[in-house]
Amino acid sequence: MNAVGQRYSGKVALVAGASRGIGAATARAFAAEGAAVVLLARSKQAIDDVALSIRWQGGEALAIEADVGDESAMARALDIVLQRYGHLHAAFNNATDGGMPAPLADLDVEAFDRGLRTNIRGTFIGMRHQIRAMVRNGGGAIVNMASVAGVNGTSGLSAYVAGKAGIIGLTKAAALDYADQGIRINVVAPGPILTHHLEAAGAKAQEQAALSTPMRRLGTVEEVAAAVLWLCCEQASYITGAVLPIDGGMSAGTKLSVNYRRGEPLGKGAD
Ligand SMILES: NC(=O)c1ccc[n+]([C@@H]2O[C@H](COP(=O)([O-])OP(=O)(O)OC[C@H]3O[C@@H](n4cnc5c(N)ncnc54)[C@H](O)[C@@H]3O)[C@@H](O)[C@H]2O)c1
Repeated sequence: MNAVGQRYSGKVALVAGASRGIGAATARAFAAEGAAVVLLARSKQAIDDVALSIRWQGGEALAIEADVGDESAMARALDIVLQRYGHLHAAFNNATDGGMPAPLADLDVEAFDRGLRTNIRGTFIGMRHQIRAMVRNGGGAIVNMASVAGVNGTSGLSAYVAGKAGIIGLTKAAALDYADQGIRINVVAPGPILTHHLEAAGAKAQEQAALSTPMRRLGTVEEVAAAVLWLCCEQASYITGAVLPIDGGMSAGTKLSVNYRRGEPLGKGAD
């Protein structure tokens, strides 16, 4: 078995939504473990910058401009990957359209459609082409990006929640379709991760998000990347159709801070 650091040597990994945040960190992690990395996003400049930084570290990276909701752009992207490398071993469908928070009745229909287009249609189209390439290879592994919001629900984010819940359903259906063809398909469901969204929201929002998790802290992009790499590698060879929370315990339930029978503090710090 390859040691950590060499797990992806000779492999080709694709990350859709790789220009920043979790996607860029996961592309860097794949490259650091020896993979040739294909980066997809709508902004060529942004993925070129990430690809360049990977090459500076001695890695192999190819940036392709593509909107995940655009069938012909995604077909073209996979053609380029196969022409260049001949194989696709791992894929991470990470792109999203988070949208602006609003209660359901205030959300306009176009914003709802936009959210579902990137999350559900984009994940479907991405998997469609990745699976076709992997069937030709004789196997592979795909990880889709959901959220704890797609598991538990979150107020003010109906399009996002519907999109992420849909990605979980798509993942399970696809995992079953290809379980006997050597293609494993799983989904990760992070809680609050420190990326530019929470950075832009400021210290107060970060503190509140951290306190909403039982671990009382934000996750890091590296923690999500590590889970994605593990799900795509041989060490996870009997795992398919799984929803992996990366959420500091958020989806496990409610962490009480007070003993509800006696009204006393409960847990760490309690007298
Ligand atoms: N940051 C968090 O707290 C958190 C928590 C749970 C889940 N997530 C999920 O993790 C993923 C990444 O989150 P992030 O915080 O790094 O977000 P981000 O907005 O920084 O990254 C999203 C990436 O997707 C790309 N993208 C968006 N629409 C696209 C499209 N139509 N086609 C191609 N690329 C497109 C963007 O350019 C960017 O590279 C998202 O799917 C998000 O829903 C994030």
